[in-house]
Amino acid sequence: MLTTLRRRTSHWIDQMRLSDMARRIKDERLTYLPVRKLVRIESALAEIRRHNVPGDIVEFGVALGGSAILLAQAAGQGRRFFGLDVFAMIPPPSSEKDDSKSKERYETIAAGKATGFGDDLYYGYRDDLYEHVSAQLARFGTPVDGRRINLVKGLFEETLPALDIEQIAFAHIDCDWYDPVRYCLEETARRLAPGGIIVIDDYNDYVGCRTAVDEFLAGHGDFHMEAGLNPILRRAV
Ligand SMILES: C[S@@+](CC[C@H](N)C(=O)[O-])C[C@H]1O[C@@H](n2cnc3c(N)ncnc32)[C@H](O)[C@@H]1O
Repeated sequence: MLTTLRRRTSHWIDQMRLSDMARRIKDERLTYLPVRKLVRIESALAEIRRHNVPGDIVEFGVALGGSAILLAQAAGQGRRFFGLDVFAMIPPPSSEKDDSKSKERYETIAAGKATGFGDDLYYGYRDDLYEHVSAQLARFGTPVDGRRINLVKGLFEETLPALDIEQIAFAHIDCDWYDPVRYCLEETARRLAPGGIIVIDDYNDYVGCRTAVDEFLAGHGDFHMEAGLNPILRRAV
């Protein structure tokens, strides 16, 4: 009883901390992220702005575009937004470090049995996902123009090397499995500006993601992690 009350109160407090934009994204079912994760993303973006951290904003894992819309709002004045995704069905977990939960989840998706929000088609089955996300970004005032706002379709491992992203201020890594999380961490770290921030979505959800982050931290003593639902990695300035 007391636990339920505490949980409800803290959810209500999180709701109050959310911007109108984030509330709209949530109401329109454009993101899989719970309110608490959105609050942390918004406060990390505010930190980047407050400290004038130079560099672009990058999201690895866009899906329906919910968190991308929030991130895109923070672009401007030379800061660009890049949203990278296959915009198709998620690639399989390919490492032995991925757990059975991730493999079962992938099998459900691959078998055509994943469900979307309510009666919606699961986003990974849409063949117009790129166009759909593009339209959502435009509707929220951040149209894809190939300059300030960019949506890049394809495997991260194939698209990122061709992009002219030299410095990153903020990255949201939301791609579930060991291999892509490890790849995105390493590629982001070598471009991350002093004071830059990486938010990891799936640390508490999938063992592969957690392992990738733990291994990364063990090899990069200059990073530290602020724990939480979606942990925040910062490089010591
Ligand atoms: C959990 S969803 C992202 C959720 C989204 N950020 C939101 O606000 O709800 C993960 C996305 O990452 C994409 N993805 C995973 N691995 C990828 C890879 N190697 N290359 C490109 N996209 C990938 C999937 O296709 C999927 O759309």
